Amino acid sequence: MIRFSRVIGTGGYLPEKVRTNEEISQTVDTSDSWIYERTGIKSRRIAGADESAASMAEIAARQAIEAAGCDPETIDLIIVATGTPDHVYPSTGCILQQLLGAKNAVSFDVQAACSGSIFALSIADQYIKSGAAKTVLVVGSEICSRIVDWTDRGTCILFGDGAGAILLGASDEAGVLSTHIHSDGEYKDLLYCPNPQAATETNKHEAGFISMRGNEVFKVAVNTLGRIVDETLEANNMDKSNIDWLVPHQANIRIIVATAKKLKMSMDQVVVTLEHQGNTSSASVLIAFNEAVRDGRIQRGHVILLEAFGAGFTWGSALIKY
Ligand code: ACO
Repeated sequence: MIRFSRVIGTGGYLPEKVRTNEEISQTVDTSDSWIYERTGIKSRRIAGADESAASMAEIAARQAIEAAGCDPETIDLIIVATGTPDHVYPSTGCILQQLLGAKNAVSFDVQAACSGSIFALSIADQYIKSGAAKTVLVVGSEICSRIVDWTDRGTCILFGDGAGAILLGASDEAGVLSTHIHSDGEYKDLLYCPNPQAATETNKHEAGFISMRGNEVFKVAVNTLGRIVDETLEANNMDKSNIDWLVPHQANIRIIVATAKKLKMSMDQVVVTLEHQGNTSSASVLIAFNEAVRDGRIQRGHVILLEAFGAGFTWGSALIKY
């Protein structure tokens, strides 16, 4: 019997505090109209001083566990995608395991920038398909506001905080149809955030903050996401018309529109959350997926294409029958 991983629960969390474009315009030389026209973003959420990637992950994960009606002790594997972990170590996955009381899980983090949750989904799917795990929790959780240089108008307008979760369970019914992940370190200098603890004399002035050559990243992202759409459809012998929903990484509305165009999809079939959330990095596709499940847009039997692109560069997709 072929074994699949199926989505059995989803969850999400956004911190309460909102930071609008107008507020940012008071501290850097920008405007609400520039940000909205170039990115599609109007506001983003900012985590409170007492919040962390693990604390936000816990809220999203508990929702997913509750939706699945499962006991945390039945989880075999926890994978947390984050670029803003609570500690260098232990992993945010281990902290989350303790918070959830998921005693029987093995836990670790995946770091693939904005593509992190797609990478985590891919690993989770391999574990379930191979029979090595039955129930896997995948979480993306990010406090981007703490690694953003709030004096850099090229990056501070883009990012926000939040967490999303998916619980996967083994099934003989089709669920995750395929995952595709890639990386190319040749582009490592276009988008990076040096670790302050490992900073050297030469890079300590920029350590801890996101640095991005936005326009160059933009061009590669549009082309690469177009290619991953083709790769995913070909691998499944599917046509564009077979996709019910596109759940893209929420970096820039213009990148999302270009991918939807490539799929010949109406924007009504695209889940867009970035207007009031910004780019929550590895959390974004999971937050968007959860929102569309909870508001009833995504229904059982629908085919959903998730895709993401981020620093590395890294990029990937997951085709899921919900
Ligand atoms: N307000 C006003 N003007 C600005 C701002 C701002 N916030 N930011 C830049 N500008 C100016 C620039 O200085 C430039 O001015 P100049 O022409 O006088 O030199 C002009 O606007 C155009 O700048 P571009 O960088 O070419 O603007 P662009 O249209 O490319 O938009 C943006 C910038 C929004 C950053 C876009 O390039 C983008 O979204 N890039 C992709 C981001 C992404 O996908 N990242 C990957 C995921 S993130 C991760 O992995 C962590």
